[in-house]
Order: sequence, then structure tokens, then C-alpha cells
Amino acid sequence: MTLDEKLSLVHGYFGASLKGAPPPMNATPPKEALGGAGYVPGVSRLGVPALQESDASLGVANGGNMRPGDQATALPSGLATASTWNPQLAHDGGAMIGTEAHAKGFNVLLAGGVNLARDPRNGRNFEYLGEDTLLAGVMAGESIAGIQSRHVISTVKHFAINDQETGRMTLSSDIDEKAMRETDLLAFEIAIERGKPGAVMCSYNRINGEYGCENDFLLNKVLKGDWAYPGWVMSDWGGVHSTVKAAMGGLDQESAHTFDKQDFFGAPLKAAVESGQVPMARLDDMAGRILHSMYAVGVVEHPPVKRDIDKAAHAAVAQKVAEEGAVLLKNEGGLLPLAAQAKSIAVIGAHADVGVLSGAGSSQVISYGGSALELPGKGAFGGLFKIVYHASSPMKAIAAAAPGAKVSFSGGQDIAAAVAAAKQAEVAIVFAEQWQTEIQDAPNLSLPDGQDALIAAVAAANPRTIVVLQTGNPVLMPWLSNVGAVLEVWYPGQRGGEAIANILFGKVNPSGKLPISFPQSEAQLPRPKIPGSELKFVLFGGNDPLFSVPYPEGSEVGYRGFEARGQKPLFPFGHGLSYTHFTYGGLKVAGGETLKVSFTLTNAGAREGMEVAQVYATPPGQQRRLIGWKKVALKPGETRKVEVSADPRLLAEYDVKAPGWRVSAGDYAVAVGASSADLRLNGASRVTATLLKP
Ligand code: GLC
Repeated sequence: MTLDEKLSLVHGYFGASLKGAPPPMNATPPKEALGGAGYVPGVSRLGVPALQESDASLGVANGGNMRPGDQATALPSGLATASTWNPQLAHDGGAMIGTEAHAKGFNVLLAGGVNLARDPRNGRNFEYLGEDTLLAGVMAGESIAGIQSRHVISTVKHFAINDQETGRMTLSSDIDEKAMRETDLLAFEIAIERGKPGAVMCSYNRINGEYGCENDFLLNKVLKGDWAYPGWVMSDWGGVHSTVKAAMGGLDQESAHTFDKQDFFGAPLKAAVESGQVPMARLDDMAGRILHSMYAVGVVEHPPVKRDIDKAAHAAVAQKVAEEGAVLLKNEGGLLPLAAQAKSIAVIGAHADVGVLSGAGSSQVISYGGSALELPGKGAFGGLFKIVYHASSPMKAIAAAAPGAKVSFSGGQDIAAAVAAAKQAEVAIVFAEQWQTEIQDAPNLSLPDGQDALIAAVAAANPRTIVVLQTGNPVLMPWLSNVGAVLEVWYPGQRGGEAIANILFGKVNPSGKLPISFPQSEAQLPRPKIPGSELKFVLFGGNDPLFSVPYPEGSEVGYRGFEARGQKPLFPFGHGLSYTHFTYGGLKVAGGETLKVSFTLTNAGAREGMEVAQVYATPPGQQRRLIGWKKVALKPGETRKVEVSADPRLLAEYDVKAPGWRVSAGDYAVAVGASSADLRLNGASRVTATLLKP
């Protein structure tokens, strides 16, 4: 390759032109660009195709006027996928969106978001996979593997500790190396091992003062050194701050260079190579990594072929994720499932007559059938995005499930009307919503727009009140003791309405479990106030104020923090009810270099169901953590033996000096159960001391 050919591979463009959007999103892309988030020219002389890049983890993103008129299958949110605890389903979801990307002409999906939910108000938690290192890493890795099985490169992002949206372009995530390695980085490591993503997207934020896309420690020492990652590092859109420092710091490609304060990997990089500031060997490595991934994923031999999409089959995948990802939080007196013979049902709120809510930002998908409703976005940057409802009406699906019932709808703004409807109905179903978007965090944990008052009033009018939550994060529930049932469906995607009705009427037995703790209040959080929330930021504001986000909780993220601080959450990590119940027995724990755990699981109820049996370990002197799980489908009365072995890194502390994963000798307690707080079996075993390489 000539110098210019190598340089062309490492210098990307924004691939779309969003009419009406503020700069830089309204720039005119190269004519060859397909209209996705990114475009990188190929080298036709050598048969190297261009990179046509689309967002993202929840489908082939086309929101915000991206390719006007384009539609795609909307997967449920990442939190829904994580709530399934079903790695195969994560893989299937990835394969489905990978197929759609390929059929639309894209060979890169900017998916694989795996940032841990260190803050339950992070506006992008809906795109990610919760608070636990192992669960997030496994589910991200499987989704990435699914996408790449369709010869579409996936990314894993945003590397690293990009765990809040407030001030994301300039904040510094300040955290010690031991904690970083044991949590956020280990989630990335597990995702990379399982999914082998062709690219890693470095993050906007600084980590201990160094920007993610020029962070020599993260990119060269950890990712390419310790982990021997063979693929390439692409910047986030507007995440580059230098030429030589970034290139030598491990960045391999500048994405959408018009989003940066200046062009860093165009002429300036050529000059740096020609002057020797960036050795030719480094440029060869940059280009080589990109080519490595293109060949490894089969992008060259299996170029995208524009073709029709099996929308029904894809919608079925989305529906299965929604059904297995719905979490039944409360079900007093068996209020659910509802009888199909119900006579009158009041459906209230959240535009449930027309559709289901989705999250916003670069991951936005306009689903097949088109949006049922689009409303102006809210909040500091919310005006950038629309509040989009996918055309899958819960009310229509409920009416279809109870053909003899009189089903009414009240919007919810008029509480008196909602109360009157609830009074006249056998059962009231209140849909509550929390819209979340990239670029801004939730101001607090409360449901917005007076929904708490609505729910309380409806519950006072009808004791048989069910709340269906469509949220992008955990929310507070001041009305919880007054309602009969609560079902968290997150953003349920292309067939969300049908999935919700199938669960409410028992056609599907809920099996979802929380991938994120629901706090009792903000006071329980390591950062009661979101750092930087008092500052002002601009869009893609490279000159935004610099500030620190300290992470004193270290490795004790989510439930581990609640337990370390002796706090009881509203609903614990791993919680989720079923229409049947399961018993656990026969625990055996074997020690040695790691823990091998076996036990039996029985469906002791009258209907078939799936249980996510969770295994937690407590190393001597450390906090308890998840070391494995199995999701098991059982018929009534059926018993199955379950075995789980721990990845030793999950038992270890990261020893920065050694360096490596130090597993201490000692007795390790093991607990098995239906959630982090509902543990049915307890045991222990001795583990021998080992030191594993980083
Ligand atoms: C965004 C996001 C990133 C996305 C990229 C392209 O700002 O941070 O997740 O893939 O830009 O849209």
C-alpha cells in the first residue's frame, strides 16, 4: 500500500447528512457514503472495500432523519436483553441486526455498548447491559458474536468508564487501576474474549486525566498489550484531541473527522509520518489492524448484498427478547396472570393505545411500520432528539387477549378521567414511562411528569391496579405498597405491545431478572448528585469545562455497593418473579484453583417456566459477587442438575504490582439462589492461591 492508501484507512467521515441538525451533523458526506454514522474509503486498487458504518446495539439506527423513510427492526433495549440472562438470545438478537445491516449495505455496526451501570441515572444505560461485570461482559460478547456471524464487524464500546452522559466530552473518570481492572475493564475483556469484536471504540471522556482516545495505558498497555487485542481502535465521534499523542497512544482511526476540533488523522498525520514523529511502522500497524479485522470477520469475501429482510422472523426475535426480558417485580395475591375472560380493563398512560416507548440518541431505530408517535425531546439536549414510540400498541394486544372485555383508554394527563375509568373497570393497567437519551442523564430516579400521582390515584380507585414500567433506568415507586403488580418491560421494541399482553395474560411466563439494582433513593448512591450537573456543556463540546467524576466505590458497583454499605435496595439485582416457583437443593461446592458448584433445581409449581439460578461467591475479606448462572426451562415437577464453574478472575483481586489476578488461599463462601438477595443454598470450599497473568 502507498502512504496515501494507508492514510485513507485511518481517516473517517460522518456518513450521513442530518438535514436540520446542528453542525457538524449537517455536513455533506462523501457521495459513496450509504447514510450511516460513518464512512471510511476503501482501496479499490487492492480490493479493500470501504467501511460503511451504522449504529448500533438496538438495530440498524435510522433515527433523526438518518436515511429518511428507512425502517428497521427495533430490538428491545440492552437492559431488556440483559434481563433475559439468556446468552443465546443475546446472540440471536445480534445475528438479527447483523443480518439487517448486511442487507442494507453496511459492513460495520457500532454496537457492543458494555459500560457498567455505575450510575442508575446514566442516560445511556438503556443501551447497555447493567451493573454486573460478568453478566454485562457475557451478554455483550454474545451480541457481538451474533452480529459478526453475519460478516458485519461489530465494535465494543465505549472504552472506558464512560459511565455518565453529563459532561461526557471532558469529564475525567477518576478510579484506581485495581478497581478499573476488576469491573469495567473485566467486562470489556470478557466481551472481547467471547465476541472477538473487530474494533474497539475509545470513549469521549478522560480516564484519570487522559482522554480515552489517546490513553496509552488503556489502549497500548491494557488492550493491545495485556489482552493482545488484534483489531483496531476507532474514536468516538468527536473524541480525538491530537495527532501524534493519539497515534502513539494507541488510536488507529479517527472517525467522522469533521466532528473533531480539527482534522487530526488527515494531513497532520501524513506530516507526522513524513517527519518521523509517527514511525511508518506505527501507521502500518494502524492500517494492518483494520485490514486484519476486515478479513477476520469476512467483510471482504462476504460483502453486503442489498436484499429484502424477513421482517416477520426478525420481529419474532425482538418479541422473544421483550418477553424473556420483562421482569415481574411484584405480583400480590396472584393478580397476574389476568384471565382472558376479563370483563373490563382500564388501560392508562404512556400512549399505550398506539405504541411502546424507545430510547433516543445515536441508537435510535425507526421501526418497521414507522413510528406510531414522535414527540419533541425534553431536557438540556433532549431537543436534539424526538421521543419515539414504536408502532406496537399494548392496548390493541390487550384487547385481542381478552376478546370479551370492554377495554378503555385514558391518556393519564387527566387524572380524574383515569380514576373514573379505573373505578368502572375490573382491573386497571397503568403504563408509566421514563424517556432516556444519549447526551443527558436522568435528573433523578423519579418517574417524570406527575406519573407517581397518577398511579397513586388509580391505585386508590382500584385495588387491582397493575403498573407496566417502560423505563431506561431504575425508578422510585412511592406507590408500590398500593398496587397489586409491577412489570418492568424496559423499552420493549418492535413487538413490545404483543409481548406485554402475552405476559399479562399468562401466554408467556415471565422469567426476566434485574441486571441493575433499583435503589430506595438517590441517597443510597455513591454519588447522590451527578458530578458536573451544575455545569454548562455544548454539543460535541471539546471546550467544555474539565471536571472529575470520582468513583470511590471502586469495585463495589451496584449490588456489591449496596451490600458493602449495608443498604437494602427497593428491588435487588437478579430479582424477578414467575407464575410458578422453583426449589433448590443438593448443593455441592468443590474448591481448588477455582470453584465448581452443582445443585438441583425443581419446578415446584403447576406451570412450566424458566428460572435464572444465580451463583454468588464471597472470597475471604471481599464482597460477594456473581460468579455464574444458568437459565433453565422446567416443566411442572421437573428437576434438573445445574453446574457452574467460576472464571478465576472473578474470585481474584487485581494486584497492580505483580501484576496479575491474585486468587488468595482460603475458604470461599458460595450462595445459590433466585436473586442476589434471595439465596436458597449456602456452602463453602477451600481455594488455593494462584496468580494469573493480566
Ligand atoms: C455517538 C456515540 C457512539 C456512536 C457514535 C456514532 O456520539 O457516543 O456510541 O456510535 O457517536 O453515532
